[in-house]
Amino acid sequence: MQQERLLKVLVIGDLGVGKTSIIKRYVHRVFSQHYRATIGVDFALKVLNWDHKTVVRLQLWDIAGQERYGNMTRVYYREAVGALVVFDMTRLSTFQAVLKWKRDLDSKVTLSNGRPVPAVLLANKCDQHQHGLCPKLPKLENFSQGQGFVGWFETSAKDDTNIDSAVTCLLKAVMSAE
Ligand code: GTP
Ligand code: MG
Repeated sequence: MQQERLLKVLVIGDLGVGKTSIIKRYVHRVFSQHYRATIGVDFALKVLNWDHKTVVRLQLWDIAGQERYGNMTRVYYREAVGALVVFDMTRLSTFQAVLKWKRDLDSKVTLSNGRPVPAVLLANKCDQHQHGLCPKLPKLENFSQGQGFVGWFETSAKDDTNIDSAVTCLLKAVMSAE
């Protein structure tokens, strides 16, 4: 018999880092250069055949970057079981905000066993090598481990780089967390 799991996953990070683009790429396989800021929260659903006996209904919560300054995140984060924390490789301030997003997350939601929800770090817009911050960034391997991320990826929603890998990495952690 097949079992179905509904998983609520958050996509968080500063304004314009590419959260909506990552979700659109992952769910609809499209990309647009056009920027329209998300207001509040948006949703997307993807149904996955996880293994021969499990169907995953993945509910992606696309939280507007500007919500970090609001007071709704506690409501939005409720019952989430995982998070993608995104920054823009070409803007240092968005990397510095990663820790604020991670702390916000950990302070407002935990798994039912009290442990932090698994989170994966995404260094997005890696197609923009020439503008990349790489020399200025700490080694992401050490940084992500030190900050409690279960993994990290350089991603591009534009070129479709590592988007599926990042989600799969998160889902593996989520599925083995309980
Ligand atoms: P908010 O909704 O304001 O929080 O922003 P967001 O994080 O949802 O960003 P969004 O996905 O709207 O992308 C912002 C801009 O960056 C858009 O113009 C996108 O086309 C562009 N963008 C997103 N991902 C990539 C990427 O991987 N590479 C490049 N070159 N541009 C990207
Ligand atoms: Mg958005």
